[in-house]
Amino acid sequence: MTRRMRSKFVAGNWKMNGSLTANHQLLTALLSGAEGMPADSAAVLVPFPYLAQCSVTLDGSPLAWGAQDVSTHESGAFTGEVSAAMIADFAASYVIVGHSERRALHGESDELVAQKAVAAHNAGLIPIVCVGETLDDREAGRTEAVVARQLDAVLDGAGDEVLSSSILAYEPVWAIGTGRTASPQQAQDVHAFVRGRLRERFPALADGTRILYGGSVKAANAADLFAMADVDGGLVGGASLVPHEFMGICEAAFSASRAD
Ligand code: 13P
Repeated sequence: MTRRMRSKFVAGNWKMNGSLTANHQLLTALLSGAEGMPADSAAVLVPFPYLAQCSVTLDGSPLAWGAQDVSTHESGAFTGEVSAAMIADFAASYVIVGHSERRALHGESDELVAQKAVAAHNAGLIPIVCVGETLDDREAGRTEAVVARQLDAVLDGAGDEVLSSSILAYEPVWAIGTGRTASPQQAQDVHAFVRGRLRERFPALADGTRILYGGSVKAANAADLFAMADVDGGLVGGASLVPHEFMGICEAAFSASRAD
């Protein structure tokens, strides 16, 4: 019963890839594959300059779109920043916050990630909040401690109203772009841990909140991952740039949703 509250969802994180020409080809291919796809089941998360292209190309289609980062500020002297309202101006629905690449390369703290989730929510965007441990953390047995710290900062800083409109994503850093996917059971274990922690703080939200898995998701491994009870879809990097891979992952998600 609770499973139906969480149909599977697939988001393609393009990262810093694309061009107007390449995007046109990719989006056209995705649109032809997306015919008949249920609404609210897939999105592409693109570099800021391409939000306009998505808003024109994907308008009225089952594919939603969004961004990969957001400023905590609403406006003003913040050179290079992009506000949540600006993203929403392009009819975007989603924004990633706390991706491990931003945490590692731009020093984003757990608290900043929480503030970004709040900023996104206040502009009507759905934050996709990422958590995940490094290989060192995992090998030292710190997976749950790290994920709990990252998650608690968002639970504390953002609160239940923001969480009620958020998607969570577990992305083990060691599985991102490495071809080394977490096994379905490894993913399920952490997803169940995340949901349990959410239940302790906000019991009403635990069953309805989607928790996506990210890290070397491909068409070939998606069905096994999405068969796990607490894996509600995927946050897909490299494979989201390859139309037949992304559509294969979406197909695996729809089949899993139908099976629930
Ligand atoms: P890959 O699918 O390329 O491993 O990237 C995962 C990711 O970081 C999605 O946000």
